[in-house]
Amino acid sequence: MRAFRAPGRVNLIGDHTDYNDGFVLPLAIDRECVVRADPTTDGNVVARSKQLAGEVSVPADGSVDPAALTGWGRYVAGVVRVLAERGRPAAAIEATVSSTVPAGAGLSSSAALEVALALALCDAASFSLPPVELARACQEAEHIATGVPCGIMDQLTAVTGHADAALLIDCRTLAVDPVPLPQGVAVLVVHSGVTRSLDETRYAERRAECEEAATALGLASLRDASPDQVRAMPRARHVVSENARVLAASAALRVGAHGMLGELLSAGHASLRDDFEVSTPEVDALVTALEDAGALGARLTGAGFGGSVVALVGRRDAEDVAARAMARLRGETGLKPSAFVCRAAAAAGPLPEGSERRDHP
Ligand code: GLA
Repeated sequence: MRAFRAPGRVNLIGDHTDYNDGFVLPLAIDRECVVRADPTTDGNVVARSKQLAGEVSVPADGSVDPAALTGWGRYVAGVVRVLAERGRPAAAIEATVSSTVPAGAGLSSSAALEVALALALCDAASFSLPPVELARACQEAEHIATGVPCGIMDQLTAVTGHADAALLIDCRTLAVDPVPLPQGVAVLVVHSGVTRSLDETRYAERRAECEEAATALGLASLRDASPDQVRAMPRARHVVSENARVLAASAALRVGAHGMLGELLSAGHASLRDDFEVSTPEVDALVTALEDAGALGARLTGAGFGGSVVALVGRRDAEDVAARAMARLRGETGLKPSAFVCRAAAAAGPLPEGSERRDHP
C-alpha cells in the first residue's frame, strides 16, 4: 500500500485574481487529504472515504463522465478522466480517502482530494506529470466535476506548498515565489459556520463579468488594466486594486511590517464586499468582530459567499482574539463558528514508507 497527501490552502490575499492572470498569496496549510491505495486487477478505481458517505467505483480508463455522478464521486471520476486523457495507463486501484480539510469552508478540500488522488493514480500506473501540469489537470477535473470555472490557485498551492512560507504566485506565468512567514504573528482561520459550495452560479457570473470588462477595455485580461481605466467599473476595480494589494502585502511580509499587512487584508475585504460583492452579512460581521477583538487585519478567504475568514493576529493573542470574536458572532447571529491557527505546510507528495502518520480519525 502506498499513501499520498495533499494540503488544503488558505489565501492570505488575492481573491478572484487568479482567473484574471493576476497575483495571489496563499499558503498550503497543515490540514490535508491522504489517499492510501492498493493496486487491483478488476479494471476499476474504487474509493472509500472516512468522512464522506458512499463508495465510488469508476472504470480506470476514464470512460465515465463525472457529470453523470453525484457527490464526491464526481471528483474521483474527474481526476481519472483528465489523467486518462493525458496518457495515464488504466491501472486499477482500491483507495481509502481521509481528510482533515473541512468541506465547504473555503479551504480547498476538493483540490486536496484531487491532487492526493491524482498522485496515487499516477504512482499505480508508473506515470508522472510535472507539478504544474498535475495542477492544471486537477483544475480541469474540478471544472468537469462541478461545472465551476475555477482558477489555478488551489491546485497549484497544493503542489507547490512550502513549510513556513506563503506563496506569491503570478497566475500569468505560474511562477511561485515563497515568502517566509514571521514567527511573531499567527495566521488564524475562522469558519463562519455558513457552509459554501463552489457549485455557485455566482462564481461563474463574476468570472464572466471580469472577461467582459477586459474585452470592453480591449485587453487580454484585467491583469493589464490600470487603475484609471477601471475607475467606474467596480468588478474590474476590485481585481486591479487587489493585485496591487497582493504585491504590497508580500513586500510587507518580507520586511516584517505586520501592521501594514493587516491593513491590506482589511482593505482587501472591503473591496471583496463592496466592489466584487462576494461577501455575506455573517462574514462581514465576523471580520468586524475579529478586528474589534484585536486582529491586525481580517478578510474573507477564497471564493466567498460564506466560508472562512483569515486573520493576522499576534501569536500570543491568537486564541484570545478567536474566542472573543466567535462569542460575539454567536451572540449576533446564532451561528456556530470554529477556528484554528494554521501553519504553512509542504507540497503534496508521498507519505514516507512505514510512516508513523496514522489515518485521520
Ligand atoms: C476558488 C477558486 C480559485 C479562486 C478563488 C477566489 O477557491 O477555486 O481558483 O478563484 O475561489 O480567489
